[in-house]
Amino acid sequence: MMNKIAKLSLITFSVCCFLSCNENKAKQETTKETTTLKDAFKDNFQIGVAINQHQINESDTTSAKLIANEFSSLSPENNLKWMYIHPQPDVFNFEQPDKYVALGNKHNMQVVGHTLVWHSQLGEWVNQIKDSTEMIAHLENHINTIVSRYKGKIDDWDVVNEALNEDGTLRESIFLEILGEGYLERAYKLAAKADPDAALAYNDYNLTKPEKREGAIRLVKQLQAAGAKIDGIGMQGHWSLNGPSIEEIEESIIAYSELGIKVMITELDITVLPNPWDLEGAEVSQNFEGSEKMNPYPEGLPDSVQVQLAERYEEIFKLFLKHEDKIDRVTFWGLNDGNSWLNNWPIDGRTNYPLLFDRNQNAKMAYDRIVALKK
Ligand code: G3I
Repeated sequence: MMNKIAKLSLITFSVCCFLSCNENKAKQETTKETTTLKDAFKDNFQIGVAINQHQINESDTTSAKLIANEFSSLSPENNLKWMYIHPQPDVFNFEQPDKYVALGNKHNMQVVGHTLVWHSQLGEWVNQIKDSTEMIAHLENHINTIVSRYKGKIDDWDVVNEALNEDGTLRESIFLEILGEGYLERAYKLAAKADPDAALAYNDYNLTKPEKREGAIRLVKQLQAAGAKIDGIGMQGHWSLNGPSIEEIEESIIAYSELGIKVMITELDITVLPNPWDLEGAEVSQNFEGSEKMNPYPEGLPDSVQVQLAERYEEIFKLFLKHEDKIDRVTFWGLNDGNSWLNNWPIDGRTNYPLLFDRNQNAKMAYDRIVALKK
């Protein structure tokens, strides 16, 4: 028979075990609650977010806190594009870009510059340039003025954005028209001269499509052969619930990494809405505005789709972790679902749910799923 003292010791011991288990559970719960995106992946890659003008101005405190706490890298959604930063040949507008850079430096974040040379969102005056001498002078002035101003403050530049067609050939643009293929080499050499320490990247979408991937590989090899500095390739991750496949993404990460450069996932968002090209025989230019079929979740995302989105983000981040040695950064193209450009593209006025934070700025199931990968 167990004597009273032994019984008392056993009870005391059991109570202590119970309390410490609960304490550990509580700690785990606390740890779970305090883990942020940037902390979860700090040993793997930077976690970035593209921010808009209101977020640059910190006009909403909840957004400002989320940006500072959850992310280790910043990208400017629009404010450093040519039409805003260099609206006239002899006019530079640095007010917002300065605030953007200051915000990133304040929070000791990696600061990305997007983008120096792009056929879209140009100052209209650029499209009127007629001869190569004039274009060279303006390109030199544009890149020298901007990159040297942010020397040591912007860490990575998307020097050229979206220079390729879907078949991998060079896209028609005012730069190609006036300067020929050499405009790319010229842009990268100008950027490297203005800030030798900044990492220089080429950025584009659909870079998992074989033809376009071959075009991007050709472009990088040509820059390398010409002695231009190219440190990375930005795979914009404007993906959907069903594509591109994990295999296509993996094949591309490996192929770009084999060029001896870093891979960045620069504009990650996952649309949950159908698009015209998903519809058999649909003409993309056909006006689908107001169509219920194309805007199925105006009042909220069904749980079943929330789960699909979480599973899609989880499989993508499992792949990123598998290739963490090749990936420098994963940037989300927007902070919360309400900010996303996908609410208005390719059809205006839709309600999309492509990001990790919802319209109330709360973390979604997808957020929990990817953070749980690091538990
Ligand atoms: O600034 C004007 C504002 O004054 C006006 O009231 C408002 C309504 O017309 O438009 C505002 O300009 C909009 C701008 O974003 C700033 O919000 C433009 O209409 C709109 O077209 C522009 O869209 C941006 C788009 O690039 C332009 O192509 C998106 O926000 C931005 O997310 C998107 O980002 C691009 C990347 O730079 C490159 N990769 C693709 C990605 C998605 O297109």
